[in-house]
Amino acid sequence: MNIVILAAGQGKRMRSARPKVLHPIAGKSMLARVIETARETAHLCGSGARIVVVVGHGAEEVRSSFASQTDLQFVEQQPQLGTGHAVLQAMPWMADDVPTLVLYGDVPLVRAQTLAALLDSAGDGVSLLTVNLADPTGYGRIIRESIHGGGEVHAIVEERDANDAQRRITEVNTGILVAPTGRLRHWLAGLSNQNAQGEYYLTDIVAAARRDHVQVTASVVADPDETLGVNSKAQLAHLERVFQQRTAQSLLDAGATLADPARIDVRGTLTVGADVFIDVGCVFEGTVALADGVHVGPYCVLRDVVVGSDTVIHAFSHFDGAHIGADVIAGPFARLRPGARLDDAVHIGNFVEVKASHLERGAKANHLAYVGDAHVGARTNIGAGTIFANYDGANKHRSELGADVHVGSNSVLVAPVRVGEGATIGAGSTVTRDVPARKLTVARARAVTVEGWNRPEKKPR
Ligand code: UD1
Ligand code: MG
Repeated sequence: MNIVILAAGQGKRMRSARPKVLHPIAGKSMLARVIETARETAHLCGSGARIVVVVGHGAEEVRSSFASQTDLQFVEQQPQLGTGHAVLQAMPWMADDVPTLVLYGDVPLVRAQTLAALLDSAGDGVSLLTVNLADPTGYGRIIRESIHGGGEVHAIVEERDANDAQRRITEVNTGILVAPTGRLRHWLAGLSNQNAQGEYYLTDIVAAARRDHVQVTASVVADPDETLGVNSKAQLAHLERVFQQRTAQSLLDAGATLADPARIDVRGTLTVGADVFIDVGCVFEGTVALADGVHVGPYCVLRDVVVGSDTVIHAFSHFDGAHIGADVIAGPFARLRPGARLDDAVHIGNFVEVKASHLERGAKANHLAYVGDAHVGARTNIGAGTIFANYDGANKHRSELGADVHVGSNSVLVAPVRVGEGATIGAGSTVTRDVPARKLTVARARAVTVEGWNRPEKKPR
C-alpha cells in the first residue's frame, strides 16, 4: 500500500523552534510514532508499504532526523496550499494498483489495528476514519445519506464552510482516509480552492468520488483518543498522559503491581516478569527489563538496564546502561553509569557511584563511594568513602581487586593498581602501588602523640 504522512504544517501554537512533528510523546517524536504505526499497519495487512512524508516547515530538520531510515521518501510542499495540495505532492511516488492511506504526523496515537480495519472497510472505494465528539467545533463535519447517521457519506463540510444545521453534526472527519490511488490522482488534479480558506481541501475528494459513483464509507473509531491531534503544548501534554495510561494498563495486564498507574513514565520499552512492584514517580527510558520479583522503590530513573530476579532498588536511584544480577540490593540514592555490571547478591548503598566496573557475586559498597573502571572480586567489601582514582588528568586507568578484599573506609586507590585476593587495606590509605594478597597494607601517616604539648590559651585583652 501507499502511505502518505502529512507533516508540512508549522505548528505556530507550539511556540517552539522545533518542527511540530518532532516533539516527543513518551520519548519518541510524534512523526516517528506515526511512521512506526504505518509500517505496522502494512504488516497487519500482509502488504508492503511505500511511505511518503510530506514536509514543509523545518523540512531539513525533519528529514535529517530520519536519515537512517532509507525506505522513507520525503517530499517538500512549498508553499502549503492545503491538505489536498499536500497529498498531491506525494502522488509521483505512489503505485496506482494499491490503495493509499493518508495519515497525519501530528496525530500520533492512532492504532495500527484501527487503520487495518479502515483499509479493510474501504474495499475498492474511499473510507474515512471518523469520530463522534461532544464538541465538534473546528472539525470537518460528516454529511451522511441518512440524517440518522447511517449509509454512505455524501460530503465533508469544513467548519468555516458549514451552515448552522451542518455545524450541529457531531460526527467529524479525523483526516485519516483510504482511497483508490489511480482515482485519487485524478480527483486531486481536479480540486479547486474556492472555499472559505482558499485552500485545496483533501476532503473535497468525497464529492468527486460520489460524482464518479465510487462508494464512500466511514468507520467510527471507538476510542476518540486515537484521533487526537497536537497543536499546542497543552495538547501534547494531554496526549503524553493518554499514552502513559495505555502503557501503565499494559504493565498491569502483564501482572506488574504499580503503586499508582498515574505516576509512572515509560519512555521506551519496559518488560516485566511476574510479581514486579514499581513504586510511584519512576521513569523508565530506552530498553529496561525487570525479572520476576524485582522491587523498584519510589522516584527511580532506569535507562537501558537489565535487572535480575528479586533485586531490590531503593528510592531515588539512577541507573543508566547497567546490567544487574539477581538478589542485588541497591540504593537509596545509588548511581550506576554505563558499563556497570553487578553480579548476583551485590549490595550498593547510598551515594555510591559505579561506572564501567564489574562487581562479582556478593561484593559490597554500602556507603559513599566511587567505583570507576574496576574489577571487584567476589565478596570484596569496599568501605565507606572509598574512591577509585581512575583519572590522572589525561587518561583513565583500571583497578583490579581480587576476591575477599577488605578496603578500609576513606581509602583512595590510585589506578592503575592491583589488589591481591584476601588483602586488607587500612582505613584512610592512599594506595599508589600494588597490594599483596592476604596481608594488611596501610598507607597513611602513623598516629603520634606529642608529649608535653599544651593547648594555646586565649590572650587577655
Ligand atoms: C483537516 C480536515 C478536517 C478535519 C481535521 C482533523 C481538510 C480540508 N480538513 O482540517 O476535515 O476535521 O483536519 O484535524 O483536510 N498540512 C500539510 N500541508 C498543508 C496543510 C496541512 O501538510 O498544506 C498538514 C498539517 O501539518 C496537519 C494536517 O495536514 O498535520 C492537517 O492540517 P490542518 O490545517 O490542521 O487541517 P484542518 O484545517 O484542521
Ligand atoms: Mg487548516
